[in-house]
Amino acid sequence: MSGPSIFPDVRVFFFEGDFLSMIILGIESSCDETGVAIYDSEKKCLIEEVHSQIQLHESFGGVVPEIASRDHVKRILPLLKTLLKKNDLSLQDIDGIGYTSGPGLIGALLTGAVFARTLAWALKISVVEVHHLEAHLLISLFDAPELAFPFVALIVSGGHTLLVHARTIGDYEILGETLDDAVGEAFDKSAKVLGLGYPGGAALAKLAERGEGSYLNFPKPMIDRPGLDFSFSGIKTHVANAWNRSEQTDKAKADIAEAFQSAVVETLVIKCKRALSLTGLNHLVVVGGVSANQLLRRRLAEIAEKLNVSVFFPRPQYCTDNGAMVAYAAYQKFLLHQETSSLAVQVKPRWPMAEL
Ligand code: KG4
Ligand code: ZN
Repeated sequence: MSGPSIFPDVRVFFFEGDFLSMIILGIESSCDETGVAIYDSEKKCLIEEVHSQIQLHESFGGVVPEIASRDHVKRILPLLKTLLKKNDLSLQDIDGIGYTSGPGLIGALLTGAVFARTLAWALKISVVEVHHLEAHLLISLFDAPELAFPFVALIVSGGHTLLVHARTIGDYEILGETLDDAVGEAFDKSAKVLGLGYPGGAALAKLAERGEGSYLNFPKPMIDRPGLDFSFSGIKTHVANAWNRSEQTDKAKADIAEAFQSAVVETLVIKCKRALSLTGLNHLVVVGGVSANQLLRRRLAEIAEKLNVSVFFPRPQYCTDNGAMVAYAAYQKFLLHQETSSLAVQVKPRWPMAEL
């Protein structure tokens, strides 16, 4: 292990060339999913357990931070025990730990941070801090090892919408971002207006498959303005107005869902095209919860073929929040010697990706 350690007996690892053999525990607790996972660098395999808090927050129509923190506290240890037991592993097999230290809800982040640092101290191993959005991004390299930097990344989640020029691990230039609501947030708020529950992004997308809403003339936000920023706060008002003006039938609901989804997806497609042309790059990576959206995948694949660029989406299981992405990103951080054995519990609820 590189760097000074406060533990004289902290476990040491050796590189063999560029290869580092480690079993890494990843912990995700930035919002409403508790995720624990193990990445075994020798076997190149990821195993994970995820617990979603959706049912706890559903009746409130959004994530309640205090409820989220308390549930992480309750779930994290049993989840880890289950993961180890199912895979015939013990705590002593773990060589290093990575946890999401930001961005996210402070109480939720603290739960993972305290757990990770305490466990590392008890096991005399090191930890790395992982940026939640970078973890979303880097899991692409696990699913597509042939993927090479630099590339354009579209990060679309419940809390973030960014277009990034990813130069290499830890080096990201923000090309554009949302000025207000994130795409996932727009999906969820619109789904709420249509009575589809919380978080309703996936339900809205499913309903949209049955609709045809071109007659509703939904605007594509910000496409007339130059640049790569987004704005999705106005479109939910459009959904509300269209719903209030409609006859409120199942057909009207499906049509509005379709009009909303296609306006949002086309906006994202236009901005991705612009980002590719501006940077001259020919790889596009799309990550985060909304990258599970089938229309977005289809449309970006069509555009990529036309432009002769490659587009990559992680498998759906790794699009929404999970611990596997944290374990895998942590391995990349260990490779870069970014580990610490300090006991200081660090979280960064606000952590711009450009500051990595
Ligand atoms: O990345 P993620 O799990 O959590 C954050 O880091 O925010 O993203 C969750 C977001 C939610 O807003 C959810 O509604 C949205 O991703 N989402 C979808 C779909 N699946 C999840 N949005 C559109 N279409 C989907 N199929
Ligand atoms: Zn996320």
